[in-house]
Amino acid sequence: ASPLPPPDLKTCSTAHKSKTTEVQYSCCPPIPDDWDSVPCYTLPSMTKLRIRQPAHAVDEEYIAKYQLATSRMKELDTKKPPVRPDPPVRPDPRSFKQQANIHCAYCNGAYKFGDKELQVHNSWNFFPFHRWYLYFYERILGSLIDDPTFALPYWNWDHPKGMRFPPMFDREGTSLYDERRNPHVRNGTVIDLGFFGDEVQINELQVMTNNLTLMYRQMVTNAPCPLLFFGAPYVLGNNVEAPGTIENIPHIPVHIWTGTVRCSTLPDGTSSFGEDMGNFYSAGLDPVFFCHHANVDRMWNEWKTLGGKRRNLVNPDWLKSEYFFYDENSNPYRVRVKDCLDTKKMGYDYAPMPTLWRNFKP
Ligand code: C2O
Repeated sequence: ASPLPPPDLKTCSTAHKSKTTEVQYSCCPPIPDDWDSVPCYTLPSMTKLRIRQPAHAVDEEYIAKYQLATSRMKELDTKKPPVRPDPPVRPDPRSFKQQANIHCAYCNGAYKFGDKELQVHNSWNFFPFHRWYLYFYERILGSLIDDPTFALPYWNWDHPKGMRFPPMFDREGTSLYDERRNPHVRNGTVIDLGFFGDEVQINELQVMTNNLTLMYRQMVTNAPCPLLFFGAPYVLGNNVEAPGTIENIPHIPVHIWTGTVRCSTLPDGTSSFGEDMGNFYSAGLDPVFFCHHANVDRMWNEWKTLGGKRRNLVNPDWLKSEYFFYDENSNPYRVRVKDCLDTKKMGYDYAPMPTLWRNFKP
């Protein structure tokens, strides 16, 4: 391995939603004018931490703010450019679709190094890439409602109270709703954190108990040391997929459980590739993506408290890896893994919830 450089936006090309099917639109971000001298991001100073709350426990006032921020983000997609603008207008990198496209570009083959595709999943890039992704998404939302302490909610699927689809995302007609989901998210179904497509025929209490046992296994038993938790070192174009324990399960099952069933018919009449949550190219089009990933990110913090060798990696190739993002002022930056290891330094933390799975040693 060697440190991953930020992707070359100039060579960004078509993404694909399956091995043989291309994404019909471009997932590539606008290229900054000063592409050759994009600065490294330094964490801004802050006075008050953003506190991410469990999604099932937030109040109506919070929901209203989150809805407003998200609808403003969506409005940035529909701003009409003047007729034949000169120079041509570029999309606003803070817009909802541009934010979703970040995931598409980094995960569905739009970026290449030589002839190798960049992929931020199935390796040690998973946790730091998504942490930075949510970091900017959260700051953009906050800036759109002038609230510097706005924080994303987290889908607390590791606690029985959070093992259903978070209700705030299931209100039709709001900016947090997405019609491209599996209908079972609507009926108060308890999520099976090991879901890979088969509906289980056991009662809710059993599903919850299984989930807690699964969490213990992925956080404690199977992840006694850093590489097992974070995933294998990333080599460009590496075809060896070695995700960390939590990335593999329950992170992927939550995606599959939420998205539409593959090969079913989508609302627009086309055939499903798992949209939205069940495919990397479209996952960010469902606002719940960021709520799911907030809990994934929280698991990183929790894991480090479990003792033994459960510490951040110290491998310089990991620490020096970089990604590219636009911030809440549409300024482009390169961000480094070594700057995202402490969420408090990044300006946010998680409201605590009991981690019952710690007591579910099988
Ligand atoms: Cu980048 Cu949950 O996937």
